[in-house]
Amino acid sequence: MVFHDDLFADKVVLITGGGTGIGRQMAVDFGRLGAHVIVAARREEPLRGTVELIEEAGGEGSFYLVDIRDEERIDEMVEEIFDVHDHLDVLINNAGGNFVGPASAMSPNGWRTVIDINLNGTFLMSSAVGKRWLATGFPGRIINMSATNAHNGSPLMAHSGASKAGINSLTETLAVEWGGAGITVNAILPGPVRTEGSDERLWTDEKTVKKLESRIPLGRFARPEDISPLVQFLASEAGAFVTGSLIVVDGGDRLRTPDF
Ligand code: COA
Repeated sequence: MVFHDDLFADKVVLITGGGTGIGRQMAVDFGRLGAHVIVAARREEPLRGTVELIEEAGGEGSFYLVDIRDEERIDEMVEEIFDVHDHLDVLINNAGGNFVGPASAMSPNGWRTVIDINLNGTFLMSSAVGKRWLATGFPGRIINMSATNAHNGSPLMAHSGASKAGINSLTETLAVEWGGAGITVNAILPGPVRTEGSDERLWTDEKTVKKLESRIPLGRFARPEDISPLVQFLASEAGAFVTGSLIVVDGGDRLRTPDF
């Protein structure tokens, strides 16, 4: 964390999926920087854990239980947030889901579920918050967590790659449509990231991890701490003129070629 302690004083930041991984890191960092941080996801225990971490670090946080596929619940939650806090400054669409498997073995419901969570969830959250900002002319910030698998195909995660490509397009569209109201919309595209969740579900074979890491110019996967400061930059005054940008944070992974 590289910013001064009261950077987000009086700001309210809503992070979907903030119970684990990158979302939890961002939540704790925003809390340390003076924001009231709201984390919102399906499972209560991790959310409570994040709020405790925020408070231990001297910050202020709260949580909501929500499934971002449920538009009625989203609307109810966003309404309550605006009632309780009077305003919301930053929305971070971080919640996501995926599983590994070839497209040929993917059930229609498996496909639909990941698209629903990642792409439709990002749209529903942005829409619920954005329409309130547009109604009052509030220059809010939206930051979407995309990924580099939006480019060049996403073998063994067709649904995830398609959802992230959709998120990129949605980011650019909303940046244009809502720019006139002063709202900025950006996406961050991490390459492979190591979190306790991804270590358990995706990076289970140490040999494969080593091989992948050896191809990354900076020599390792990203960590949540590599992503969080960029989100804070985009949410801060310093990022006021950045919109519609798809920003890659991958240690140069996208530049690797099999020949080197
Ligand atoms: N392999 C194959 N299919 C899978 C699967 C897996 N590992 N996990 C889920 N699915 C399929 C289910 O079989 C189901 O399809 P079906 O009805 O045809 O059988 C469909 O996906 C929905 O699964 P369900 O478990 O009911 O949905 P959910 O909303 O509880 O789960 C997922 C969400 C699909 C994202 C699940 O993989 C998950 O919970 N992942 C862990 C969280 C995560 O992905 N975090 C990543 C952060 S980047």
